[in-house]
Amino acid sequence: MPTPHISAQPGDFAKLVLMPGDPLRAKFIADNFLVDAKLVTSVRNVFGYTGKTKNGTLVSVMASGMGMPSLGIYANELFSQYGVEAIIRIGTCGTYQKECAVGDIILAQGSCTDSNWMGEYDLHGGVYSAIADFSLLLSAYDEGKKLGKKIHVGNVLAADHFYCKSPDEWKKWAELGVLGVEMESYALYCIAAKYHKKALTILTVSDSFLGSEAMTSEERQKNLLDMIETAIGVADRF
Ligand code: HPA
Repeated sequence: MPTPHISAQPGDFAKLVLMPGDPLRAKFIADNFLVDAKLVTSVRNVFGYTGKTKNGTLVSVMASGMGMPSLGIYANELFSQYGVEAIIRIGTCGTYQKECAVGDIILAQGSCTDSNWMGEYDLHGGVYSAIADFSLLLSAYDEGKKLGKKIHVGNVLAADHFYCKSPDEWKKWAELGVLGVEMESYALYCIAAKYHKKALTILTVSDSFLGSEAMTSEERQKNLLDMIETAIGVADRF
């Protein structure tokens, strides 16, 4: 049965879904990395495709939109209604650390947040630590290394605000060794935990809070392709 936000039929999704933020990036991945990709949903232009990797693994790719509420809708419906076993978010982040260069990959082993995403669980003032699935993390590390990428593994911040009131707010997180900021990983990991499923967030560093040289468009494209190839490699091993 289609859900309120996904028009696919049961069985249309593979057990592993790659999840970029941008619907056109989902189309790009389907067009360039999958064989015989079929569009399975397009509600609100949030495109989802299922096809095969060049090694014959059935895999889906579907966009999340931006921010935890948007990703949360799709992740909940994929895990609960479509039999999806694993979601790998592939996105970009800003880094807080000088050892992380623009173009490097960050694997979000853990995710912090400034949101009240887990408030609905009433944890008596406790805080849930959101973590990646270890087997997916290990595969991604291996696959990224095979491509010669510089890979950082650690905590990221899933922020509720892209535009912050205080320009120095990020420094509190930087002092705790948080590698960078994006806006979705915490919700993804919590939703995976809720359904006893697996999740990972793979990020390309697109900008630095410490200031850095901008990437050329060729470098940006190459880094994007490396991240997608890393995620496809994980799908092949799943
Ligand atoms: N903030 C939040 N999300 C992001 C950023 C950022 O600076 N860069 C890429 N995604």
